[in-house]
Amino acid sequence: MHSIFVFFLVCAGKYAFTLQIQNLPCLTDESKKDLDDARKELKTVDNYLGKTVGTLENDVQKTLNNMKQKLVTMKSTVGKIMKKVETDLVVLKKDLKKGQWKKYQGHCYYYASLGAAWYKAERLCRDFGGYLVKIDNSSENEWVYSASKYKNYYYWIGLSDLIEGEWRWSIDQSLATFKAWQSGYGSKGHSSNCVAFKNNKSKWIDTNCKIGYLYICERNFC
Ligand SMILES: *[C@@H]1O[C@H](CO)[C@@H](O)[C@H](O)[C@H]1NC(C)=O
Ligand SMILES: *[C@@H]1O[C@H](CO)[C@@H](O)[C@H](O)[C@H]1NC(C)=O
Repeated sequence: MHSIFVFFLVCAGKYAFTLQIQNLPCLTDESKKDLDDARKELKTVDNYLGKTVGTLENDVQKTLNNMKQKLVTMKSTVGKIMKKVETDLVVLKKDLKKGQWKKYQGHCYYYASLGAAWYKAERLCRDFGGYLVKIDNSSENEWVYSASKYKNYYYWIGLSDLIEGEWRWSIDQSLATFKAWQSGYGSKGHSSNCVAFKNNKSKWIDTNCKIGYLYICERNFC
C-alpha cells in the first residue's frame, strides 16, 4: 500500500507539471528566439520613430521659417504696391481737383498725366464716372488731340479689336465708323488690339494693350 501511494504522488506531480507546461504559450528555445527577434525589431521601430519625429520637427521648423520668410517678403511687396497706389491716387486727385476736365460740345475730357495699360486706363476712367474717350468724327478728333497737354506722348483712346479687325468703342461696344489711322496702322494684328493717339499727331495707331500710355477719359457731364 505504501509504495503505491508514493508512486501516485510522483505520478500526480508529474501530471500537474506537464499540464502547466502545455498551458504556457510556446516557450520553447525557438519561441524564445522569436521573442528576442521581435523585441529587437520593436527596438528598431522605436529608434526609427524617434528619428522620424526628430526629422519631422526639423522639417516643420524649416517649412515654418520658409513660410515666415515668404510672408515677410510679401508684406514688403504689398507695402511697396500700396505706397505706389497711394502716390498714384494723390496725383490723380490733384489732377481731378485742378479741374482738368475740359469741355467740348457738351462732353468733358480728362487727360491723365500718369501712364497705364489700356485695360487699367479703361477701369480708371470708369472710376472717374466716365469712359475711355470715344471719338465720333473728325472735328472731335482734332479737338481732343489739340486739347492734350503732352503732345510728345501717346494717349490711349477707347477703341480696341478683341475680334481681329472689328474695332469697337469700349463705352457702348459700337463699331467705329470714323477712324483716323496713321498710315501703316489699323491692321497690325493679334498683338496690337488697342488704339492710341500717336505723339505729335491727331492720328491713331493700334498697338500692344499692355504698354503704359497716358489716356483720355470722357464724361457726359462736367
Ligand atoms: C462730332 O461729334 C461730336 C461729339 O459726339 C458732336 O457733338 C458733333 O456734333 C459732331 N460733329 C459733326 C460735324 O458731326
Ligand atoms: C513733337 O513735338 C515737339 C514740340 O514741337 C518736338 O520737340 C518733338 O521732337 C516732337 N516729337 C516727335 C517724335 O516728333
